[in-house]
Amino acid sequence: MIRLDKLLCHSGYGTRKEVKKLIRSKLVTVNHILAKSDDMKVDEVNDWIEVDGERVIYSEFVYYMLNKPQGVISSTEEGPTKTVLDLLDIPYQNCFPVGRLDKDTEGFLLITNDGALAHQLLAPRHHVDKVYEVHLSNPISSKHIKMLEEGIMIDGNELCKPAKVQVINDRLIHLTITEGKFHQVKRMMIACDSEVTFLKRLSMGPLSLDPNLKTADYRPLTEEEIQLLKNA
Ligand code: URA
Repeated sequence: MIRLDKLLCHSGYGTRKEVKKLIRSKLVTVNHILAKSDDMKVDEVNDWIEVDGERVIYSEFVYYMLNKPQGVISSTEEGPTKTVLDLLDIPYQNCFPVGRLDKDTEGFLLITNDGALAHQLLAPRHHVDKVYEVHLSNPISSKHIKMLEEGIMIDGNELCKPAKVQVINDRLIHLTITEGKFHQVKRMMIACDSEVTFLKRLSMGPLSLDPNLKTADYRPLTEEEIQLLKNA
């Protein structure tokens, strides 16, 4: 048995606040009877639950896209610094961010409790593309672009896989990398005689940051987006 609001959150009907609103708006039925409270217990396998006439298919996993703001860390550990999980009003306890963004990095962060998918997306052999908007302190030259495209050496002894570079202007590039080394983009830019002044992840694999998500906002992934990620 599981709380109704929790089941609806898990099944992609929104945040806890949003599903409570659905229940209070009399849009949710359990075995064809109007649901009266958020915390009523339902049987996730045998009960017939509908939202606005649509049967709810329960999933034990949740998937959210967060537009990470600066100033929060991508860790799940409790401590004095605010974590990305503090931004999410969801009832599920076992969620974690897939991969890390630095405290001062913004943008696309996937939050889930699906360990198998996270493992698949992070495994180096899967080479999932991550695209970053990178603002630079110094102009980037064609020599640097060639180094990045061929696989740049960072800190003198760590070779990166070839990256893709899209030059927006000489102090702003879109950089595509397939790995997730510690502070990788910042270290790649140091190897290009520059420093990162602003960093934002624009996409991960087949999914791009939803342009409607303001900084610090999040939303559940659609079923189609989940399938795209699973096939990445
Ligand atoms: N590379 C970095 O240097 N920082 C990030 O947050 C992500 C990639």
